[in-house]
Amino acid sequence: MRRETLAVHSGYEVDPTTKAVAVPIYQTVAYAFDSADHGAALFNLEVEGYRYSRISNPTTAVLERRVAALEGGVEALCVSTGQAAVNYAALNVTELGSNIVSIPQLYGTTYTLFAHVLPSQGVTVRFAASDQPDAVEAVIDEKTRAVFCESVGNPAGNICDIEALARVAHDHGVPLIVDNTVATPILLRPIEYGADIVVHSLTKFLGGHGTTLGGAIVDGGKFPWTAHAQRFPMFTRPDPSYHGLVYADHFKEAAYIARCRSVYQRTTGAVLAPLSAFLLLQGIETVALRVERHVENGRRVAEFLRGDRRVEWLNYAGFPDSPYHALGQKYLGGRACSLMTFGIKGGFDAGKQFYDALKLFKRLVNLGDAKSLACHPASTTHRQMSVEEQRKAGVSPETIRLSVGIEHVDDIIADLDQALEAAESDE
Ligand SMILES: Cc1ncc(COP(=O)(O)O)c(C=O)c1O
Repeated sequence: MRRETLAVHSGYEVDPTTKAVAVPIYQTVAYAFDSADHGAALFNLEVEGYRYSRISNPTTAVLERRVAALEGGVEALCVSTGQAAVNYAALNVTELGSNIVSIPQLYGTTYTLFAHVLPSQGVTVRFAASDQPDAVEAVIDEKTRAVFCESVGNPAGNICDIEALARVAHDHGVPLIVDNTVATPILLRPIEYGADIVVHSLTKFLGGHGTTLGGAIVDGGKFPWTAHAQRFPMFTRPDPSYHGLVYADHFKEAAYIARCRSVYQRTTGAVLAPLSAFLLLQGIETVALRVERHVENGRRVAEFLRGDRRVEWLNYAGFPDSPYHALGQKYLGGRACSLMTFGIKGGFDAGKQFYDALKLFKRLVNLGDAKSLACHPASTTHRQMSVEEQRKAGVSPETIRLSVGIEHVDDIIADLDQALEAAESDE
């Protein structure tokens, strides 16, 4: 089935006992065993079923199947936030002394995780000079265990050549992990282009209403862990933390997600609440429609800003003169995302006046809400970076990031227009 249909139906059949059509919220911590033997069989993974909601929950399981179906993966694990998803995705392939190679255009907190937090736990991150495949290849070494990128960078708006990055990663025997939060599976399915693992902040476009935090890790199911057993012994050797289980033997193509669940979610517990899973499922039902409107409104806003004499520069991949235009045609079908950055004439001070004058746009740090949102990355999401690090991440002191919502586009443009006016008259 197509993505619009999967978003509404996949992962759930009408409940056989109650006939509930909406996905029930299983607000329970634990699940009863029929007997001691039944409990033991569940713990030995000999029978299917639920044990404890830190490991799995029926409401969350529907969300997991739906996100996996949307991305074209074999299985997914949903966790409490997008940040937990990025962290688990990286930890699941690394060990003390190994590294991950990443492009530099990252969401600010992912950058902090990679530059400071993972290294403090013995996993380093080698940053490529750019998102170009040869720059990425240049920093891979024998200790590299994965290549990481955001398919569309937040806030840089760069579009990665997923197919080429997957080729580079596979040439070196490691998986490509793609954060697909900004693009969403409606615009792009990285697994179809060779990505191995996809991560999401469900908090953004997929949930879509700014109400609920959540994250997902999707396993494409194609990476040959056993062929690279030297690099990834965690999948091919008996796991002492789970009575000697060998993930690749037991779970076959879903070994990566199974280990992520059994090792990281079970022991460190970044669990998604069942109510949150339910709310995210409500959001996902309309994601295809919303993204269509986001994209169209984004295009109209970009055209307005580009034609306006008060705007100094605009970074939007939908115009033919964007360096990412060709990649946008290939990977997004020409549907540039509704996330864009720009700077207004008058630099930082004028930008601040503009930002403070917005009325319809909410001033905050979030994206992918139905509402139009504006953010000043240098003072918020990317504040912890040096000016040079910000530059590499696509942020300058005056940058304003817009996440264009699904309101009537004339109202969105009117708000931008009056705020530009206010900034100009305050100069
Ligand atoms: C691209 C990207 N990945 C991950 C995250 C983290 O998501 P969460 O806020 O759900 O932890 C964000 C948040 O803005 C993001 O933009």
